[in-house]
Amino acid sequence: MTLASSVQPRALGLAKYRGEFPIFRDSIYLNTCSLGALGERSRRKVAEYLDLWQSRGASAWYDVWWEALGDLRARYGRVINAPPGDIALAPSISVALSAVAESLDYKRRPKVVITSLDFPTVAYQWLAKAPSGVELVVVESPDRISVPVDAIAAAVDDRTALVVTSHVYFTTGAIQDIKRVAEVAHGHGALCLIDAYQSVGQIPVDVQDAGVDALVAGGLKPRISGWFGQREQFTFDPRALTFHDDARRFEMGTPSLAAVYAQLGGLEYIEEIGIPAIREATAALTEDLIATVRAAGFKPKVAAEPERRSAIVMIPMPDPAASVHHLAAGGVIADSRPGHVRFSPFFYNVQDDYVRATERLASQPAH
Ligand SMILES: Cc1ncc(COP(=O)(O)O)c(C=O)c1O
Repeated sequence: MTLASSVQPRALGLAKYRGEFPIFRDSIYLNTCSLGALGERSRRKVAEYLDLWQSRGASAWYDVWWEALGDLRARYGRVINAPPGDIALAPSISVALSAVAESLDYKRRPKVVITSLDFPTVAYQWLAKAPSGVELVVVESPDRISVPVDAIAAAVDDRTALVVTSHVYFTTGAIQDIKRVAEVAHGHGALCLIDAYQSVGQIPVDVQDAGVDALVAGGLKPRISGWFGQREQFTFDPRALTFHDDARRFEMGTPSLAAVYAQLGGLEYIEEIGIPAIREATAALTEDLIATVRAAGFKPKVAAEPERRSAIVMIPMPDPAASVHHLAAGGVIADSRPGHVRFSPFFYNVQDDYVRATERLASQPAH
């Protein structure tokens, strides 16, 4: 197998981190876009949380746990170029979205524009509001890989409250031009919310440059709430609702500290390596992976321009679930989405991973 890209050696340089991800001792891991491989640093941070719980009990809230929440907000903020006050922690994308969905006034602007390639949980927030008059407009993708910004623009008008789409589309890995999407929304006085679940951590995200509203608290008034969203949280006054002045107003109940600590550990890798280096490495791996699967006779469904590709490669297969089982039986952990097997490399992968994964996929009887 020849190296398809001159940046490949740089990508392989990052594989020094691989030793910190024990799953590679027994398996080939190519499913990062579903769940990242567990690194030693995340494991250590979660152990630190359990030790604190054991030794200090609730008194750890007095200082370290409280500080861990602030630390996580500030560090996520740096990853996306937002000040800490623009970050609210939520247990899932669905909960974060519902806080935003409940905050908008749909009386004058009942329309929400989304695309057919977005993750369904995003659409559900507004479909659930159809009985109260919210109109969800779904913009189709002509090639089922990405959605032209012009097609989104054609659906937006002065009745639109919000334009929602993904930075990276989860079934194709295609990168959307979110700055242009935000401009389209703002041109009609609408807000723009971006689902960056598949992009933060693997490609550069700059919310200030993009001008999106998703992580900006200003002007939005949550209608669902919890005590972590309250400025006077510890006065325990059931009569007064005084939201935080910043994005913490979108927070609800006690966060899961195990998840907070796991993320603090994961962020150590992201910060130490840096997003530009992660992007350079994963782009090289992705291009070489695409060349590898093409050379084996597969026809991956990816964006036409390499700069629009992220580290998600979809391979059309007649029975994707059976292929994923066949891969797993050969020690390759991948995933499927309708009609496709999905390989998603990250900085800890090396060429040998997808060369072997591709060989295994090709070895499936009657593929
Ligand atoms: C693009 C995208 N958005 C959101 C989610 C998950 O949403 P939630 O955190 O509500 O489970 C996923 C999960 O894979 C996803 O790919």
